[in-house]
Amino acid sequence: MKVHDKSNPQSYIPSRNRYNEMKYRRCGRSGILLPEISLGLWHNFGYADNILVARNIIRRAFDLGITHFDLANNYGPPFGAAEETLGMILRKDLAQYRDELIISTKAGYDMWDGPYGEWGSRKYLIASIDQSLKRMGLEYVDIFYHHRPDPDTPLEETMWALDQIVKQGKALYAGISSYNPEQTSQAAAILRDLKTPFIIHQANYSLFDRWVENGLLGTLEKEGIGLIAFSPLAQGLLTNKYINGIPEESRAGKDMTYLSKKEVEPTLEKVKALNQIAEKRGQNLSQMAIAWLLKEKSVSSVLVGVSSVAQLEDNVAALDNTTFSKKELTLIDEIMK
Ligand SMILES: NC(=O)c1ccc[n+]([C@@H]2O[C@H](COP(=O)([O-])OP(=O)(O)OC[C@H]3O[C@@H](n4cnc5c(N)ncnc54)[C@H](OP(=O)(O)O)[C@@H]3O)[C@@H](O)[C@H]2O)c1
Repeated sequence: MKVHDKSNPQSYIPSRNRYNEMKYRRCGRSGILLPEISLGLWHNFGYADNILVARNIIRRAFDLGITHFDLANNYGPPFGAAEETLGMILRKDLAQYRDELIISTKAGYDMWDGPYGEWGSRKYLIASIDQSLKRMGLEYVDIFYHHRPDPDTPLEETMWALDQIVKQGKALYAGISSYNPEQTSQAAAILRDLKTPFIIHQANYSLFDRWVENGLLGTLEKEGIGLIAFSPLAQGLLTNKYINGIPEESRAGKDMTYLSKKEVEPTLEKVKALNQIAEKRGQNLSQMAIAWLLKEKSVSSVLVGVSSVAQLEDNVAALDNTTFSKKELTLIDEIMK
């Protein structure tokens, strides 16, 4: 039951039921349980976004049992803004609940000018975690990721930097993102030797992008590393929002670099067919797309983004039905061929 003093927007007392409805899964062979749905702050937490909406999303997420919030140094815009926004919300609303939260951040993509502001050098990663902690006002993050493989920096250098960050207590666990199976095994071997807890891999996984099924899931299972699936709704394509045109306020409507208007149309035939299956299951398409990922035991958490509290609630309702009949799975596979 949520107690909220409407006369004072500063006042927030989390729901006492917050752990009753969310389900949690072990992240690989680690001690950490992750909520089946986690929240990513890539979009909607920048300077141009509505801070009240952002704050309500975080509060509602925590009320729904979402304990894991995912960031990166460059989330915004501008770069760093999402960490600052979360830092403010943590201070105002969640300071006393820090031990109930898993906060992650990353470094790997373009962040600051010059040769030391991206990729995988020790110089970049160690400077970046310090900046991230300052922006969020935290002493440590729970997970620190290397955001993408670096073709030029020796993997040892990158992994040794993650090791140092963990050993210094600036992160509790190490993770990687978008590494292929071979790179993942090599990273695991280096970190195992150093006795650094490497527990999680963040990878793009959705009905539209199943690359992880091509070896990575097996590697993670073998290494005891959890998979957190990012962009599970293909940035909104796997919802029914684009079926009747492109809403102005949507990600594609804003014609963003990562989802342009012209990318929508070619997906519509499949989206409509998937939507029909979802309706027969008593779900909407976003719920079915999330449930479809959660049917995989190897998925530790599904990492969604949302632009409203309503979307968040809609997505969490996916947990009401995460089982699929063989017939449904075959139909889905045929549509996605
Ligand atoms: N490691 C990496 O390299 C990497 C890369 C990308 C993302 N990520 C992480 O993954 C997180 C999620 O990625 P993503 O934002 O691309 O995920 P997504 O869940 O595939 O897409 C989120 C977007 O889908 C739309 N949406 C969500 N729920 C909806 C609903 N119920 N009904 C209708 N539309 C809905 C919203 O778009 P509108 O804005 O149009 O409403 C929302 O912003 C990021 O925040 C980040 O933490 C990591």
